[in-house]
Amino acid sequence: MSIVLALPKGRILDECAPLLAAAGITPAADYADESSRRLRFPTNHPGLDVIRVRSFDVATFVAFGAAEIGICGGDVLMEFDYPEIYTPLDLDIGHCRVSVAEPVDDTPTDLAAQSRIRVASKYPNLAKKHFAAKGIQAEIVALNGSMELAPGLGLSRLIVDLVQTGNTLKANGLRESDIIANVSSRLIVNRIALKTRPEEITQWIDRFKQALAA
Ligand code: PRP
Repeated sequence: MSIVLALPKGRILDECAPLLAAAGITPAADYADESSRRLRFPTNHPGLDVIRVRSFDVATFVAFGAAEIGICGGDVLMEFDYPEIYTPLDLDIGHCRVSVAEPVDDTPTDLAAQSRIRVASKYPNLAKKHFAAKGIQAEIVALNGSMELAPGLGLSRLIVDLVQTGNTLKANGLRESDIIANVSSRLIVNRIALKTRPEEITQWIDRFKQALAA
């Protein structure tokens, strides 16, 4: 049975390419073509296939053992906090942060004066924990994207979102008011797979280690 490596679609896909090349992994040509409808691709290694999934789903595929290894953002790992996932390597790609943002025009939100606040986010767990640690009960409106629209349309006072360049916040009249965590992408491994197929999995971890060192 092939080892399955889960890779995130979207912006990290491009950042993964040099790392995969340095690790000696060449997926079938249409892997890099996001218009291709294929989702599972063979590689130059007969024992390794890659799958292309949404960034949030990389963690789920690996946690459930559907993929043995994956490349996953620290934001997603913090949100799900799956005990089944082992994270042996920081891959030094996908650098960004999970932040709280609020409208530029309004007076800054005085969190100390709030006991409840509504927050739109694709990170409901992370957001809830962050505000709970400040003694604030956050009502989370779960969205899957475009949450920068929420404050302007009266859906929520604040958002918790991923910020890389800050351009999306700026373009939507928002400013970062708090950084919850700086994150990067990690190599992730299913713990049971590591126990049952240690040689194969360790070989792939080592290849990524060498690729990073190179
Ligand atoms: C993320 C995030 C912001 C944007 C921030 O979305 O949710 O919308 O990127 O990036 P910036 O600071 O460089 O502008 P992403 O593009 O990953 O896609 P999504 O909306 O599907 O989550």
